Amino acid sequence: MNPIVEVKSLYHTYPSGIEAISGIDITINAQEFVAIIGQNGSGKTTFAKHLNGLLKPTAGKVFIKGMDTAKKRVSELARHVGYVFQNPDHQICCDTVETEVAFGPRNLHLEKEDIERRVQGALQAVDLLEYRTVNPKQLSKGQRQRVAFASILAMEPSVLIIDEPTTGQDYRDGIAMLDLVKRLNQEGHTVLFITHDMQLVAKYAKRVVVFQD
Ligand SMILES: Nc1ncnc2c1ncn2[C@@H]1O[C@H](COP(=O)(O)OP(=O)(O)OP(=O)(O)O)[C@@H](O)[C@H]1O
Ligand SMILES: [Mg+2]
Repeated sequence: MNPIVEVKSLYHTYPSGIEAISGIDITINAQEFVAIIGQNGSGKTTFAKHLNGLLKPTAGKVFIKGMDTAKKRVSELARHVGYVFQNPDHQICCDTVETEVAFGPRNLHLEKEDIERRVQGALQAVDLLEYRTVNPKQLSKGQRQRVAFASILAMEPSVLIIDEPTTGQDYRDGIAMLDLVKRLNQEGHTVLFITHDMQLVAKYAKRVVVFQD
């Protein structure tokens, strides 16, 4: 057992006063493939945002590879935890596919060759190499989701969080995406995927975590 995500007595109350998470304890080990399910508004996305530090606990602790997320910046955590948003348009900002995917690695101040290697690898993984110079705005929503996914992969994080993999895609795209995620899992990535689709849960997840209220 090699715990990569450790959550201890996690609480989160939004400034509006809504208590979205009330006491979660969970440990996820390296290379697990976990599905997170639960009704709308049960706190799945709020939970996921704690793993990459976008949100900090109101109370309790979140550790990623032993690092306390409250003491780390989002940019540091992004090397370890990649989060594909529910809506890809919340994370796409550049005007070509390749600059979008290179954006994160550039911020790591890597060598040019290393950036290029990562962009190539990530675009190849999501089958978008031929769209390198296209503006993401001209792509379909499913393709934009793959661009968003490639930009996360380019950071080479060990934990991947996919929030609603089927959003904006037909079932076949969802399957293709999860086949890719499955391969990445077999290569050593730890995967958390948040979904309402029980067929995908049955087909891919090794462990299921249910959120309530
Ligand atoms: N930015 C925010 N400000 C205030 N309240 C929020 C915010 N984001 C979420 N909430 C509230 O926190 C609770 C949990 O929301 P969250 O988005 O985490 O649920 P979810 O399980 O991801 O839902 P869904 O299945 O619809 O994606 C809900 O009551 C929601 O209204
Ligand atoms: Mg959500």
